[in-house]
Amino acid sequence: MKLGRELVSADAIQRRVQELAADVSRDYAGIDRPLILLPVLKGSVCFATDLSRHLTVPVNFDYVAVSSYGTGTESSGHVQLLKDLTMDVAGRDVLMVEDIIDTGLTTSFLFDHVQRHRPASLKLCVLLNKQERRITPVPMAYKGFDIPNQFVVGYGLDFDELYRNLSAVHVLEP
Ligand code: IMP
Ligand code: MG
Repeated sequence: MKLGRELVSADAIQRRVQELAADVSRDYAGIDRPLILLPVLKGSVCFATDLSRHLTVPVNFDYVAVSSYGTGTESSGHVQLLKDLTMDVAGRDVLMVEDIIDTGLTTSFLFDHVQRHRPASLKLCVLLNKQERRITPVPMAYKGFDIPNQFVVGYGLDFDELYRNLSAVHVLEP
């Protein structure tokens, strides 16, 4: 597998991130306690960090990590929690931040998990959406881009832990 053409440019990503941050800031304006940003490790770190820099509401960070057993470019749907919440989210506004929604299995697992801790609200902010692959519906309150059913890397997304550092999103090619 090798790095293919650019699908979403660094400029387009940064512009969209600013728009999403404006939407989030508007929707949570005036909240009593900081909004808890909950990026899903590792892929969402670039997105969540850039997003947070444009937010005008106070935020806290917590992180969760999951492994979805699968090989190469296919996720298997068996999701395991590798790192749980460290903050008490009960009664708090939580915004889960995801790099990409593919089948939706990972996100719906995490959503259910966080919901059990009784946050005041729980919403999802996702950069990339592969609608064609959806198995489980996922409520996306904030969405960056719809993309075709292709495996992509960059801006946090990896293939075998490579390419996370790229500032644009690229297609991976055989
Ligand atoms: P889902 O459970 O099928 O929605 O997949 C979610 C996870 O699979 C994402 O958080 C990514 O870690 C990974 N994933 C899905 N599609 C891609 C892709 O195109 N590139 C890199 N990782 C992906
Ligand atoms: Mg991920």
